[in-house]
Amino acid sequence: MSSATHSNIDSILQENRKFEPPAEFSRHAHIKSLEEYEKLYKQAADDPEGFWAEVAKELHWFKPWTKVLEWDAPWAKWFVGAEANLSYNCLDRHVLGGRRHKAAFIWEGEPGDVRTLTYQQLWLEVQKFANVLLDLGIKKGDRVAIYMGMVPELPVAMLACARIGATHSVIFGGFSANALVDRITDQQAVAVITQDGSWRRGNEVKLKVAVDEALEKCPTVKHVVVYKRTASAINMKEGRDHWWHDLMAKAKDHCPAEPLDAEHPLYILYTSGTTGKPKGIVHTTGGYAVGTYYTTKMVFDLKEDDTFWCTADIGWVTGHSYIVYGPLQTGATTVMYEGAPNFPDLDRFWALVAKHKVTVFYTAPTAIRTFMKWGAEYPNRHDMSTLRLLGSVGEPINPEAWMWYRDVIGKDRCPIVDTWWQTETGAIMISPLPGAIATKPGSATKPLPGIIAEVVTRAGEKVPLGSGGFLVIKKPWPSMMRTIYGDPERYKHQYWSDIPGVYFTGDGAREDKDGYFWIMGRVDDVLNVSGHRLSTMEIESALVAHPKVAEAAVVGRPDEMKGQAVSAFVTLESGSKPSPELKEELRAWVAKEIGSMAKPDDIRFTDTLPKTRSGKIMRRLLRELATGGDVKGDTTTLEDFTVIAKLKEDEQ
Ligand code: PRX
Repeated sequence: MSSATHSNIDSILQENRKFEPPAEFSRHAHIKSLEEYEKLYKQAADDPEGFWAEVAKELHWFKPWTKVLEWDAPWAKWFVGAEANLSYNCLDRHVLGGRRHKAAFIWEGEPGDVRTLTYQQLWLEVQKFANVLLDLGIKKGDRVAIYMGMVPELPVAMLACARIGATHSVIFGGFSANALVDRITDQQAVAVITQDGSWRRGNEVKLKVAVDEALEKCPTVKHVVVYKRTASAINMKEGRDHWWHDLMAKAKDHCPAEPLDAEHPLYILYTSGTTGKPKGIVHTTGGYAVGTYYTTKMVFDLKEDDTFWCTADIGWVTGHSYIVYGPLQTGATTVMYEGAPNFPDLDRFWALVAKHKVTVFYTAPTAIRTFMKWGAEYPNRHDMSTLRLLGSVGEPINPEAWMWYRDVIGKDRCPIVDTWWQTETGAIMISPLPGAIATKPGSATKPLPGIIAEVVTRAGEKVPLGSGGFLVIKKPWPSMMRTIYGDPERYKHQYWSDIPGVYFTGDGAREDKDGYFWIMGRVDDVLNVSGHRLSTMEIESALVAHPKVAEAAVVGRPDEMKGQAVSAFVTLESGSKPSPELKEELRAWVAKEIGSMAKPDDIRFTDTLPKTRSGKIMRRLLRELATGGDVKGDTTTLEDFTVIAKLKEDEQ
């Protein structure tokens, strides 16, 4: 168990408050009572395939399935033999079905510019851009990397790929050129869609410059399409780079959606694991469509006149599932915002809620804690009475932040859905259904219908209620990842082998006597820093790539605002001397190697790192040191007993 979440665990262990769904909310909700949820849950558990087939029937299929699930653990095929297209389900279905002039996206740029795209307008843009891709020679099955900020052209590019069957891979705009190289190379992308720059806190994030630098090392990329956002000066490489607007001006309007096999890969999204190499999580067409559609509708209780705002960046899975594919499939109106929450002032999010009359708001605990620190006066400046439901995602939410969210943002009126899931699961797995399930601050409550979750020992035995253990999922579900791109063995080994026969999430959890799940955080070497998922190994690899660094060990430590902070222990090559300047140099180095979100919060120089006799770094000890505590527990395997004492001295 990572000690980094101990403060959260301590507080949630004492949490007894419970909030029933407001009667008025339940009356209008898709699922109206605990009994209704329990009935549905049982029905789905008894016949999962029948349950998911019923959900799938609400979507459009060019060709029906012959079998709902083919399960040869850990290899799943959902909706076998069926053909569908996500872009069709997100667009054509609504344009043909009465939502032609409904707003799909209400977008606001950081400088305050606003654009609304109706379903029909989005449909036209997507068809044109699909033709742009085809005109460039991009084919079904090709991989297209997308490195953009939060502009409507980002979902347009994703949906255009989905329309022709190209597999997209969105790379978060905060990643560095080096991180781009790794991701583009791993998937052998043939094209990159980007933009000149993106606005963030009044500054320009120079995306095209990073692409230029990366592509010097990426020979597979033949084309770069550049959307003009900031109009800053950039280089355009003859023959390789094309302006978005030039290609769109020439593209034809009409591009029918390609019928794709249900298992056709929709996207690859890289996420951090326990090794230095990021994993390309593969999601496919049919199952992902069904999972994101169902969860968006049920968890956010979306109705025809809702305005949904998920504040995530589309560069992460939350944006894929709950800005793009889930809300568009349900025919919702979604708000999309380009910039920072504190620009020009600390009330920007609340100004957006008030201006666009947001009804359902979905954000991360790290943001909520930041808003708490800034103070209630900022939300209180605005009329946010349209809000009716609040959501949280990405990390354990401490009860204090949960209560603040409920009181200050939700005015005690709005239920909160604390949604647990992962890049790998594709869609929400454990969450309240807001009209049905009473909430407890800090608990993600119960698994959704169709999801069989359990807390078990290493050997796979269910732990007694109330005890901590490993969170596993016992049955396949439609939106599950299918593999790690190019590395099926790693998929099998990493997720399905640690605990026999089940999907291991990497999280620790506890189930209470009411069947509520309390997620305690990662039990592996994955860090969760401000909701960003980072690998200790990846940061270590970045550090040791620096010429002055001999060895590095990275651990997480609890941080009140960020959830976890990154603590690095570094030994230097002989001849290099520790200094505050070198610390800064190393922090900047990590930002360049990975991205600024991975910068160590603290760096400690040390002569040696504590290791077992077999040479493994003893992270538990380092975590305890990073947290400032005494070193407890068994240290008898330490190779050199003096190391701990030495590290503690170094700290003083
Ligand atoms: O540790 C869990 C935490 O975030 C991890 C997944 O990170 P990522 O793949 O980046 O996806 C984040 C958005 C879905 C999980 O293994 N996590 C996510 N949601 C919660 C959470 N921890 C506690 N409570 C949650 N609601």
